[in-house]
Amino acid sequence: MLNWDEFHEDETAVTEQSKAAPAPAAKPQPAAAPREEAVREEAVRAETVREGAARYAVVDQDRLTRARKSLEELDVAAGLEELEMGAARIEVDDKQMINARADLNQLVPFKYEWAWQKYLDGSANHWMPQEVNMNADIALWKSQDGLTADERRIVERSLGYFSTADSLVANNLVLALYRLITNPECRQYLLRQAFEEAIHTHAYQYCVESLGMDEGAVFNMYREVPSVAAKSAWSLKHTQSLARPDFNTGTPETDQELLRNLIAFYCVTEGIFFYCGFSQILSMGRRNKMTGVAEQFQYILRDESMHLNFGVDMINQIKIENPHLWTPAFQDEVTQMILEGTELEIAYARDTMPRGVLGMNAAIMEEYLHFICNRRLAQIGLKEQFPGAQNPFPWMSEIIDLRKEKNFFETRVTEYQVGGALSWD
Ligand SMILES: [Fe+2]
Ligand SMILES: [Fe+2]
Repeated sequence: MLNWDEFHEDETAVTEQSKAAPAPAAKPQPAAAPREEAVREEAVRAETVREGAARYAVVDQDRLTRARKSLEELDVAAGLEELEMGAARIEVDDKQMINARADLNQLVPFKYEWAWQKYLDGSANHWMPQEVNMNADIALWKSQDGLTADERRIVERSLGYFSTADSLVANNLVLALYRLITNPECRQYLLRQAFEEAIHTHAYQYCVESLGMDEGAVFNMYREVPSVAAKSAWSLKHTQSLARPDFNTGTPETDQELLRNLIAFYCVTEGIFFYCGFSQILSMGRRNKMTGVAEQFQYILRDESMHLNFGVDMINQIKIENPHLWTPAFQDEVTQMILEGTELEIAYARDTMPRGVLGMNAAIMEEYLHFICNRRLAQIGLKEQFPGAQNPFPWMSEIIDLRKEKNFFETRVTEYQVGGALSWD
């Protein structure tokens, strides 16, 4: 067996030989004919193999023989699913959002530039929860009179809902949706989004751990607190059929079921269910309270607004490619889904704000959610259901558009700590 000493000896021998007999300056040689070159290369290769065989042996020659035999029998065409070897190369027009028959392993040529651009934009926005300094939050959370009972309720409910909601979204992406979106550039974005959902769940866990909250109480809220559980149950209901292993698109009914899933998750879960909690926590940050938690939510909101926009683009592209799915009856059904989501979020607002708090109350939040509901309907070409509803929180739009470098709360990272290393005296 070779060891480093032998390598060293080899090297030394070569070096000493070089010293003893310096090689004369190489004269330019005429280029060898290609055939002679190939013969020489083969001789060098054979010699190398012989030298290797002399220095070490394979542990199990039979196993190696079986591996080689298996490779001889490899059916390359079968390995590439239904592709024929030597089939025509992909044309852009072969690509489709759903039910495409084009090779899904080839990212280019791009058909949906918007999907690729969102992948690039999402990647440019990368952040990690540990970048946010949580020290001021820990001090405020642990002090007796730092926050009112109503403010504490908002922090607890928000972390309770979101700590599991992003897992529901991530599971829907990877276990239900991904295989049914038959376009590589959209899948590239879905992979980026799935990672961002993991970062969001990490951020919520990081807040819970930093503040020393009861983890069991927070992570079980989606099963134990009715206003939180109702939203989670509604989302879960819309992932079930797609998550079945035997579910496939390809008929008008199943294609519509896919659209229901996209609308339930992008327009309602990420587009409505996140907005009461986000505006409450961000309002807290604007009042210089829980600024670390608020900064985490600020980055998450920016990611989520891109998820929402990507989902809207996917839904509208599927509509363009499959106009027969968007029937009047289906439009009615989808409008009702968005209204259901709005009602659930209004119930959550009432539960989390029994009284006015942070310059907001349940009635103001209701108008905000009606405004959001109108936006979601309009984004996928449906009629607004609350015409005239105004946005009482214009600062939310400003936060969504902020780049990471322009820190809304002007907190600064002075030290990097992992959640487990945070301590409070
Ligand atoms: Fe998320
Ligand atoms: Fe998301």
